[in-house]
Amino acid sequence: MSIDKKSLQKDSHRFCVAPMMGWTDRHERYFLRLISNRVRLYTEMITPQAILFGDRKRLLDFNFEENPIALQLGGSEVLQMTECARIAEDWGYDEVNINVGCPSDRVQNGYFGACLMKEPELVAKCLEAMDRVVKLPITVKCRIGVDDQVPEEALPDFMEKVANAGCEVFIIHARKAFLKGLSPTQNREVPPLNYALVEEMKERWPKLKIILNGGIETLEHARQHLSKLDGVMLGRTAYKIPWILSIVDNLIFGEPEKCMTRKDVIEMMVNYAATQKSLGVPIKSITRHMLGLFHAEPGAKTWRKFLAEEARSLDAEAEIIRHAYFAVCEAASLKTQGEAA
Ligand SMILES: Cc1cc2nc3c(=O)[nH]c(=O)nc-3n(C[C@H](O)[C@H](O)[C@H](O)COP(=O)(O)O)c2cc1C
Repeated sequence: MSIDKKSLQKDSHRFCVAPMMGWTDRHERYFLRLISNRVRLYTEMITPQAILFGDRKRLLDFNFEENPIALQLGGSEVLQMTECARIAEDWGYDEVNINVGCPSDRVQNGYFGACLMKEPELVAKCLEAMDRVVKLPITVKCRIGVDDQVPEEALPDFMEKVANAGCEVFIIHARKAFLKGLSPTQNREVPPLNYALVEEMKERWPKLKIILNGGIETLEHARQHLSKLDGVMLGRTAYKIPWILSIVDNLIFGEPEKCMTRKDVIEMMVNYAATQKSLGVPIKSITRHMLGLFHAEPGAKTWRKFLAEEARSLDAEAEIIRHAYFAVCEAASLKTQGEAA
């Protein structure tokens, strides 16, 4: 069967927010989408077993506003991965991404994630089979190597085999993962970053889209990397300082400047939270993602404290988000008065 492949826009992956378990759920993604129209969003990693045998609707449903959005799969069983790619396409996702970066024990036991850096043929097999049945781009998020692999050899070997199977987009977390001895958190901090190697991969395969991930903390850094690579992916910074995304559409994608304020986003989140609450979602599931909205701004502490405390109760209403904003304004004006006095 021949399928017309959806061609990726040139700048489709120019700025991405990383998949993060427990963090990039649909509420977080909705929130981020209000801040930026253009960043590419990723789901948390989901296993094919969960999709095939679990509560599929709960796992896969998303708000249509979230597009462009990629589903990240953690698996290596060819038939299951293929079936999930098909389901993802029907569900309206824009991309399926294969996780070849997670080092946790649970993931290793299931034989997927970072340990697949040692199994490029298996990743290639999955990718080829998935690519055959859907129009969606199938992409890979990987490390530069694991354990005693030599990244300068392991990464190009991995990429060559997977690219030959049809992968055109590689998101590379530019550090090794150690499968024994380091926790997942340490595996995001301890192994040194090697951006130069990722740049070499771009020089070697100029036609592949190479997206850099790991340790990018400012838009200035992002822009520097973008002068050599096709895209950047930010994880923790985007989560902890979400307002950083508010200038991405203009700065990175060249769109006209928006005059949107945090207050505008808060008002939209009040409406969203009210709708979600009526569907049975606790307000805390939404507000927990908003704690960083005032990062490094006057009133940031008041915002965090107010939201954390007031959202705790199951009876909390969406209005508390607006009240938290009023508390921020008050705290900020008291601070200004204090400074002026
Ligand atoms: C809480 C948390 C959960 C994560 N979950 C995933 C995941 O589900 N899939 C994945 O590929 N990477 C996951 N990661 C790794 C990030 O996607 C990213 O590769 C890593 O944080 C490095 O990028 P950063 O330095 O910009 O944060 C997770 C990271 C964090 C902090």
